[in-house]
Amino acid sequence: MRGVSVFVAGLALAGCWLLAGCGEKIPEVTPELVTAAQTRWPTAQVTSESLRRGRDILTIHCATCHRAPAPSQHTDDEWAYYLHEMSPRAQLTQNQTDELRIFLLSARTP
Ligand code: HEC
Repeated sequence: MRGVSVFVAGLALAGCWLLAGCGEKIPEVTPELVTAAQTRWPTAQVTSESLRRGRDILTIHCATCHRAPAPSQHTDDEWAYYLHEMSPRAQLTQNQTDELRIFLLSARTP
């Protein structure tokens, strides 16, 4: 039986490495986050609702094939690349992609 549990532990580790980093959280939308996003994207009409929609897209649409990745897992440039790759896979509209991008980039740093 020992062999089996080592194998299972290995699988769990591989999952952590490949998918969402273990223990990395997806931040909640707070008033501070809204203010930071509005300051950074003054013309994008960011609201707490648009940020919440961005967060929901991440936790729902981006969690069908793998666990939802945490915003802190990637840099701005990496997110630009992954959004380009992954938005079509999740069949997001341009507007959904923009709301997701603003959530990811504002939530990736505290
Ligand atoms: C249709 C399935 C599918 C959907 C939906 C999907 N992905 Fe992926 N994703 C993959 C696969 C498969 C990989 C593995 C690498 C590859 O094939 O490019 C991956 C890899 C990744 C990676 C790199 C690995 C990592 O954890 O750092 C990120 C980041 C990522 N996806 C983000 C997203 C985001 C954000 C969304 C939502 C817009 C999303 N994915 C939706 C299939 C999907």
